[in-house]
This record gives sequence, C-alpha cells and structure tokens, in this order.
Amino acid sequence: MPAHSDSLARLGLPSPIIQAPMAGGGDSAALVVAVNEAGGFGFVGAAYLSPAQLTERARDIRSRTARPFGVNLFAPQPEPTASATLTGAAVERIAGFYAELGLPAPSAPAYPGDGFAALVPAMLDSGAAVFSVTFGPPPAEVTAAAKARGMRVMGTATTVAEAVALEQAGVDAVIAQGAEAGGHRGGFIGDPATNLIGTMALVPQVVDAVSVPVIASGGIMDGRGVAAALALGATAVQLGTVFLTCDEAGIPDAHKQAILSATEDQTRLTRAFSGRPARGILNRVMTTVEAADAPDAVLPFPLQNALTRPLRTAAGQRGRAEFLSLWAGQGLRLARPRPAAEVVAALLDGCAATVERLAGARLAGR
Ligand SMILES: Cc1cc2nc3c(=O)[nH]c(=O)nc-3n(C[C@H](O)[C@H](O)[C@H](O)COP(=O)(O)O)c2cc1C
Repeated sequence: MPAHSDSLARLGLPSPIIQAPMAGGGDSAALVVAVNEAGGFGFVGAAYLSPAQLTERARDIRSRTARPFGVNLFAPQPEPTASATLTGAAVERIAGFYAELGLPAPSAPAYPGDGFAALVPAMLDSGAAVFSVTFGPPPAEVTAAAKARGMRVMGTATTVAEAVALEQAGVDAVIAQGAEAGGHRGGFIGDPATNLIGTMALVPQVVDAVSVPVIASGGIMDGRGVAAALALGATAVQLGTVFLTCDEAGIPDAHKQAILSATEDQTRLTRAFSGRPARGILNRVMTTVEAADAPDAVLPFPLQNALTRPLRTAAGQRGRAEFLSLWAGQGLRLARPRPAAEVVAALLDGCAATVERLAGARLAGR
C-alpha cells in the first residue's frame, strides 16, 4: 500500500478529500452529509454553536449518514482587554453601517466568554471520528479524552514551528494552512497577520519537519490542486471555498454571488469583522474599519466579532454583501454553483486524471 493510503487509513479518512470546518453557517448538516455520501469527509465547525446546537447538529448528521465526520473548535484563547477609547472608536467606526441597515445604534460589546470548555462535552459525545482545532494546540486533557473515545485529533499550523508544537502536543495529523486560505488564519506563534507562507512552500517544509500525516489547506479548488498537494507529501487536503458555492452550503446567497463574481486579486486579510486576521473578499466594512488614513479601531477577538454580528446577520437577511464577512480563499475563480457530490467527484476524478497525465509526461532532456 502506498505510504499515503497507509496514512489515510491511520486517520480513518475514506479519501484524501476533507470539507473544511466553516464556523458561521457554511458547513450546514446538508453539506457534511452530501460530502460524506460522495466519499469525502465532512466537518462541523462548531466554534460559534452552543453545546445544545452542536449536539443537535451531530444528531442530525448521524441520522442522515453512517459515514464518519469531524468536529472543529477554536482552541481556548485568553480573555481580551480593550480600553474605553478603543472600544468607543470601534463602535463609532461601524455605527454608520448599523444606521444604513436601520438597526439600533451599536454599543460596547460584552465579552461572550471562551466557549471552548463548554463545548468539549458536546464534542466528545457527538459521535465524531475526528476532533480538530485552530488558533492553538488542543489542551492535553481534551486530546487525551478525545483519543480515549477513539477519536483522531488534528491541529492547524501556518508555520513549521507551529506544526512541531502541535506534534509535541500529541496530534495525529497537522493541517498545514497556507496563506491562500479563506477564513481565519489558524496561527498561534508570532503574528498570524504576517505569517503568510503559501501552501506550495509550507506543505513540504512541514512534511519534512513532523512525522505525523500532513493535510494541505489553502487555495486548493480542483483535482490539479489535490494532486499537487499529494505530490508535496500531503496525505489529504482540506478545502473550504470550493464548498461554499455548493447548493448545500449555509451561507447567504449574497456571499455565494460575491465568490462567483470576484477575481483572484480581490481577497484581503482583515481583522475588521472578528478582531483576528481572516481572508475575505474586499468590501466596504473592510476598507472603512481599517482605513489606511485612520488609527486602528478594531477590538481584539472575539469582541469585534460580537460587535459586528448583528450587522452581519441583518446584512445576510437583506442580501447586502458590503456588510458581510465574505470569507474566501485566493482560488475563488475556480468556484462553481453545484451540488457538493459533484465537487467531491470532480476533485477525485481530476486528481486521478492529473496523476495519469503527469505519469505520461516526458521530461525534456531525460
Ligand atoms: C467561511 C470559512 C469559515 C472557516 N471556518 C473555519 C473554522 O471554523 N475552523 C477552522 O479550523 N478553519 C476554518 N476555516 C479555514 C478552513 O479550515 C481552511 O483552512 C480554508 O478554507 C482553506 O482554504 P480555501 O478556502 O482556499 O480552501 C474557514 C474557512 C472559510 C472559507
């Protein structure tokens, strides 16, 4: 058996295709089920769910597919602090958008608490086969509890140092997230806004530095990308953006349309929506909140997230893309509106066709 099939079996993955956890609604139960039934591995991004919502989501998925799925959480974060001056500036910077949507004026957001500990029991009881984290290593006792239930544990790295730290923390696989990736940067050592290593450069360096399987993530949208990631030494790929425009994805239509009409040069890293750097399609909230000629007016995560949530919810209901966090990776030109089963089939068939094409290629001069 080739080394890569061996690692897949070790991780309990049916194929190299993993649908990324996408907290905030992208990864609906319908998407996870469709990906699973098509031969991929679906994930629930549970960071913004309540424990009861996670329990219900997992039950719903289990009732519709017997295939394994994963649950993802944000690693615990220290409680943030923000001065009254910064809070006032942050509230003022987005107040005009609230007014435009006819919402009551925003006020200083309350710290919602770190949801990790409360979600752990629901995660352990979810029936998931894999538990993954981003924003840091999983706490040792949670890793031990997940493994005791037979779950595999995975963590997200954006640098080699983070991958090594995750391996030392006992993960079964490292997700190497390149700079192209849509959504939040998963980094936790150094500045996640400047640790921007492309997937092509990051994956082989991580593969060489750790002994656990590596999962490539960021900018992979079709079979060519899957084959490239496997050629770099990855065992599997974790894809977000390509699934966001699927019929089953739970994001607002305005977000899907933005992805389908944007070009590869239109995404940026921004802290404007949540306080943590994340990649999305450039829009008015990003340019206004992070105006180049104005002082920083962004609260630390998750305060900024709490501050902008009512705006994003209302914007989603009203189809106003200029106020939405339009998370998307740099590969967005390859996104298509279609069922998730077609995406999984195209990824697997396209990868096989690419491998065949390359096997038949003659290298000049040899
Ligand atoms: C809308 C969206 C939400 C995301 N939410 C999460 C999350 O909750 N947890 C996580 O580990 N990664 C999250 N990510 C990052 C993905 O795991 C993955 O690294 C990324 O989507 C890969 O890049 P791609 O979008 O170019 O495929 C999210 C990505 C997107 C696009």
